[in-house]
Order: sequence, then structure tokens, then C-alpha cells
Amino acid sequence: MYSGKLGIAGIIAGVIISLVHLSCNNENRLPSTVTFTEHVAPILYNNCTICHRAEGSAHFPLVTYESAKKYASANAFVTRERIMPPWPADPHYTEFTGQRILSERDIQMLEKWVKDGTLMGPADKLPAIPRYPTGSEIGTPDMRIPVQPYLLPANSTDRFLLVKVPFELPADTFASVIEFMPGRNNVVHHVNGDMVKYAAGMKTDVYAGEQIVDMAADTATLLQAYQRLGLPNDDGSYPVLQKSVVNYLPGVFGQLYPEGLGGYKLPKKGAFLLNDLHYGFTNKENVLDSSYINIFFAKTPPGRPVQEFQLGTHGVVPVEPDLIIEPNTVKQVYSRFTVPTDISILTINPHMHLLGKSFKGYALKPNGDTIRLISIPRWDFNWQYFYTFKRMIKIPKGSVIIAEGVYDNTRKNMNNPFSPPRRVSDNNGSMKATDEMFQFIITYLPYQDGDETISLERK
Ligand code: HEC
Repeated sequence: MYSGKLGIAGIIAGVIISLVHLSCNNENRLPSTVTFTEHVAPILYNNCTICHRAEGSAHFPLVTYESAKKYASANAFVTRERIMPPWPADPHYTEFTGQRILSERDIQMLEKWVKDGTLMGPADKLPAIPRYPTGSEIGTPDMRIPVQPYLLPANSTDRFLLVKVPFELPADTFASVIEFMPGRNNVVHHVNGDMVKYAAGMKTDVYAGEQIVDMAADTATLLQAYQRLGLPNDDGSYPVLQKSVVNYLPGVFGQLYPEGLGGYKLPKKGAFLLNDLHYGFTNKENVLDSSYINIFFAKTPPGRPVQEFQLGTHGVVPVEPDLIIEPNTVKQVYSRFTVPTDISILTINPHMHLLGKSFKGYALKPNGDTIRLISIPRWDFNWQYFYTFKRMIKIPKGSVIIAEGVYDNTRKNMNNPFSPPRRVSDNNGSMKATDEMFQFIITYLPYQDGDETISLERK
């Protein structure tokens, strides 16, 4: 299924990248013979094995000589096409923390390894096999809250679940990081979750209600689903939601902010609400996933609280024109928001579903200058990162943030869920994968002097 996605666009993009590099590529001569131990293993260990290992998110490892050899041609191809490592944002437009992008030289090395006969090389040159922590990517958590285990039957296709993960604490508590850890990370595709904060005396039993609603199988509306999960307060009103507290994508872990910034206050009674726990397909076996959430307590109260708003579906400004995509058409939509005060942007998350083709986000300052935010020339439904800027981006008051999306509802779109294509819309914000969405989620702080100099890179 995946190789189908390579498509013409990918090949053209690949050709353009190769042409650009032909002209500027003499400085890095390749070795006369490329070997696994000397040249290929370092590339794989630095860029691939975080996912391509026994417990990783990809379905095959690339750790040993034998495994690398088996996939040598495929590796050369997917790296040349910039499909792997997965990083849909165009690094020439804007850069983010933790971006995984191979250099042209690395790509040529993988290609030359195939041409040179996939040789092993001297054993003593093999770098240490990278070790990855188990249980947490950050350290030893202070508290671990299990997500209700979920059984994926053999040969099942994608599932999108709404999941409640309730907790009760002896007292209000501060936390620095909240980390989602997949039980079986080759089936957990991504998670985007909020925190439900019950005010004192408003909720008797956080454990009452169901813990999982399958949004595609059940025809529940979001509000009905919230009720089934028992989210409302005892009096029927709704508690406070803190957005995007726990997000996960393979290879991306809990968001760590610098001192004095971010962090969380956990209420005595609360829950994590995973808006979208996406399970990928399974093969011939049943898979029981037992994921969990790690919490790292903090001694000090949260720093400046990170806030969030979004453009588009369910957002502060609508999608224009309406998100209705007729069959056999390519449609462009946008959403614009005028920023009422100076803000500092930390992370952004473009969101579309299967018909997405490209996405661009930028801001126009009152003086007409453009502030680049993100460009995704080839939308990939599977890799929807929360992109974190290396340093905060200041957006001055009165600027207009603009998100532009293009949808491809033709047969050429390999991900089109319908054949022949059908009319697709946002279906009143249903959030199902086969309906569409257009969102640009932005986390920010009210601007303070010097924000642009604070590094958000993870140490
Ligand atoms: C962030 C996780 C991640 C990283 C990093 C990563 N991969 Fe992958 N890779 C995947 C997943 C998951 C798949 C399965 C397809 C999918 O879901 O996109 C995959 C699929 C592949 C495939 C098979 C494509 C097909 O046609 O099925 C190849 C080959 C591959 N990766 C090579 C690499 C190489 C080489 C690197 C490093 C240069 C790399 N990957 C880095 C997660 C990753």
C-alpha cells in the first residue's frame, strides 16, 4: 500500500531535488567503495533505527547488516524520493526542532552501497548499535496511567478511537512533561490528546462511563460520544479542557519546554481525552495494545502557560469556501485569522485527511512582510507532526495568519478512500478519516521581550 503513494509527484520532486544537487555537489566526494560498517550503518543508526528496530513503529528493522542488505534498494529509493525518513515539511521553507532530513551525500551513499555490491566492510568499523530506552523516552516517570487495553482483531484496518484515561490524585499536582507511550508501537499510529480538568466538587466519579468510543464504527456525534464517556460534570455542564497536552507520533515524544515555560497543573480529579488514538492495520494475528501515559512531576508551578488556537474546522475562523470537495476536482481552501495582540508561536500542526494534497501556512505582517510558518508540498496523512520551531516566532499584532490547503478528490490521489471518487465534506465536523478536515493548530504565548531568543531545542 505504501509504495503506491510514491506517485508521479514524488518522482518529479525527486528529479528536481537531484537536479538542484547535481550543480553543487562536488565538495563531498564519496568513498571509492561504500561499505555497511563504515558508511551505511552510521546513516541508518542516526536516521532510521529509532523506528526501524525490533520494538519500533516500522514493520521491519534496519539494524543488522543482513536487514540493511535486504532493503538496500528500497532504502536508496525511499530516501532519494524523500519519503523516508518521514518529514513532510519543506526544510527549505522553514526548519523545526528534531527534523529528520538526510543530506544529499547520505542519499548518494545509500545508492552507491547498492552499486558497489552491498559489502559488509571491516567489522571493527561498525558503530555501537544504538540503544533506546524502554518504558519512557525521557526518564523514570513519577506516575504511569494505563490506557484501557484495546484488542485489534487480525486483518483489521485503520481505527480512530476517542479514549478517556481517567486519574485521581491526592492533591493538585504540577507536572513538567506528559508522555504517551504506545504499548505496541507498530500499531499505534498517532495520538492527539487533551486534559480534562474537573473543578473541586464538580465530579464524583471520573471512572464512570465508557473509556473507548470507536468514532468510525459508532455513528455517535462528538457530543453523544462525550456523554458515553461520562465526561460532563455531575450537573451536566462541561469541565475545562486543556488542549494538546499529550501528543504522539512514531519518533516524536513528549514536548519538553525550557524552564519557566509550559508545564501543567494536574487537578485532583481529571482525565486525558485522546481525541484521536489512531491504530493502523494489523496482519494475521490479533494484537492487544496496552498503551500508557507517563507523568513527570514538577516541584514548581507551571511557567507561562502555553495556549492554543486553531484556524479552520472547529476553529476561531472558518474554512473558506466551505469544505465540500466535489468528485474529480482539485480544490483549494484557506482560513485567515487576524492576530489581536503580539504572540510568540511555539508549535504548529497542519491537519487534513486523506484527500489532502498540499498545505501552506504563513503570516502577513501589517507592513506586508511575510513570516513563513510551514510548507508541505506533498501532504502525507500518516505523518502529521506538531512541528516545534527552533526558536519562538513572533507574530505582531494585526498580522494575518493564513493557512492554505489543496485537496485532490480525483482518482490520481492514491489515498482517495472512494473509487470512483465521491463528494466529500467536513460533514459538520465529524472528524472521521473519510470525511475531510482543514485545521491549522497553533500553540503560542502572549509575546514577551526576548521570546525570539529562547531555544526550544530538546537538550
Ligand atoms: C519516524 C519513524 C521512521 C523513521 C525515522 C524512518 N522510517 Fe522508514 N518507515 C516507517 C514506517 C512507519 C513505515 C511504514 C510505512 C508508513 O506507515 O509510512 C516505513 C517504511 C519504510 C520503507 C518501506 C516503504 C514501502 O514501500 O513499504 C522503507 C524502505 C523505509 N521505511 C526505509 C527507511 C530508511 C532508510 C530510513 C532512514 C533513512 C527510515 N525509513 C526512517 C517509519 C520510519
